[in-house]
Amino acid sequence: EVSDDERRFDELIANEQRIEPRDWMPEAYRRTLVRQISQHAHSEIIGMQPEGNWITRAPSLKRKAILMAKVQDEAGHGLYLYSAAQTLGITRDEMMDQLISGKAKYSSIFNYPTPTWADMGAIGWLVDGAAICNQVPLCRASYGPYGRAMVRVCKEESFHQRQGFEILLSLMQGTDEQRKMAQDAVDRWYWPSLAMFGPPDDQSPNSAQSMKWKIKRFSNDELRQRFVGMLVPQAEILGVTLPDPDLRFDDETGQYVIGEIDWDEFFEVLRGNGPCNAERLERRRTAHEDGAWVREAAAEYARKQALKTEV
Ligand code: 3HC
Repeated sequence: EVSDDERRFDELIANEQRIEPRDWMPEAYRRTLVRQISQHAHSEIIGMQPEGNWITRAPSLKRKAILMAKVQDEAGHGLYLYSAAQTLGITRDEMMDQLISGKAKYSSIFNYPTPTWADMGAIGWLVDGAAICNQVPLCRASYGPYGRAMVRVCKEESFHQRQGFEILLSLMQGTDEQRKMAQDAVDRWYWPSLAMFGPPDDQSPNSAQSMKWKIKRFSNDELRQRFVGMLVPQAEILGVTLPDPDLRFDDETGQYVIGEIDWDEFFEVLRGNGPCNAERLERRRTAHEDGAWVREAAAEYARKQALKTEV
């Protein structure tokens, strides 16, 4: 027996309308959204670290200002997304506990190190490029607060992608050493950026249901494919080589054929065994502890303000 609530929910989804916080929704839909949105928020917050690493060492004042603004944007995206998740009934504290205790997932990509300045270029070009590919369709996600948050996030991501491309372009127009540095960064970030889209469709337990609910609009492999198609002409302009000898365009299918992604490495990173997992989590934990006095002061201020309005 389908309830009226459920019928209305199904209708809204079928008619491309949006589910809003006060609407009835299946418990599994709510859980999936909390899972995806909170993981996404955590990714933005942890994602501040690999680039934060270069703020004090950016090669010019201008580069430093741009990088600082970018890292601040990521903090903003994280807070925005935590707020969207809170509309589903989970608290900020619960999400923070899940992250700090190591229970929550965040994007695999942020567990790789950033040893050179060229990594700032490769992250912008590849990682933010992949993020845009994945997130533009999320602007049409069936859950209102998530879809609307994505609109602004995507606009800022486009700027990030361009600044990364421009860093690589400058390096590629520089000395031999700079060109080598740019190519080396592309070599290290290319495969992990393809893995960002998630496991292959036949190993992606959540995709089918999320697509039915119109949270996801395309499968992991479809988006990965689209991303590679975007990269090839841009790599040519940059003059960098994508580190995949098997990469070729298949005229028959009209699609790129890509080499084998190292899924063992991906699942190891998800298990917490990537090159920087421990460091990222430790850093986040310390920052949280160091910020305890700010939270206490804010709570105390709020308490006093509430007393004032009572009289
Ligand atoms: N890293 C870590 N975990 C991943 C992952 C990745 N790259 N890809 C998939 N997973 C996890 C899933 O979360 C899921 O775990 P769970 O069931 O325990 O939650 C499991 O692997 C199986 O994957 P599925 O394909 O079944 O999972 P989804 O349907 O949720 O698809 C996704 C995964 C495509 C990442 C989807 O969740 C998504 O589109 N999320 C929103 C985008 C996002 O989170 N991006 C984060 C990185 S970009 C970024 O932060 C911007 C930058 O500027 C800082």
